[in-house]
Amino acid sequence: MKFFIDTANVEAIRRFHERGMVDGVTTNPTLVAREGRDLRQIVTEIASFVKGPISLEVVSEDADKMVNDAQRMSGWIDNAAIKIPMTWEGLKAVRKLAEEGIKTNVTLVFSANQALLAAKAGATFVSPFIGRLDDVGHTGMQLIADVVQIYSNYGYDTEVIVASVRHPIHVYEAALIGADIATIPPTVMEKMVNHPLTDVGIKRFLDDSRKVQETKDGQ
Ligand code: G3P
Repeated sequence: MKFFIDTANVEAIRRFHERGMVDGVTTNPTLVAREGRDLRQIVTEIASFVKGPISLEVVSEDADKMVNDAQRMSGWIDNAAIKIPMTWEGLKAVRKLAEEGIKTNVTLVFSANQALLAAKAGATFVSPFIGRLDDVGHTGMQLIADVVQIYSNYGYDTEVIVASVRHPIHVYEAALIGADIATIPPTVMEKMVNHPLTDVGIKRFLDDSRKVQETKDGQ
């Protein structure tokens, strides 16, 4: 399973990269706005040490404008994947960009049919937003299971990015389903390493090793 980091915070990405947790990065306009810095500057910094795909999003709604923006943005770094919203205009842009060999990540996907259309248009990645589905009373993870099944039925190459991940159970369930990628916010990634029994166990081993040391010193 590949882990992407869902953030535009370069320091957070670096921290996980040092631990082998970063196969790619996803950003969106909200995450970039949170950093208060220029998108090009941010992705250039990330690309200096992350070699996997880095998603950056167009903000236009018209296909020709999306294609122009994607062409320009993909020139900034070697490993760009351009996020395109799931609309009819977006699909037209995806098709054109696929023909040009520019990687795309179709975003704001909330149904299996949307994911099917994205794959058919030639998307490199598709991003179903599971947390936002959970928020409105649907089962986001069922969508992941459906899309993985449908892509497998027909042999689509489009990779499924589990997006809008809100807690470690989302990652666990996505892994059981066999989703290609989970894009994980730093807060969720940090929670994944913790277990109270690990902390208790470490404390006990340290305490016991100190006792042995004290006995030795006392001899
Ligand atoms: O990967 C998409 C993600 O950034 C959206 O997450 O938590 O805003 O639904 P969220």
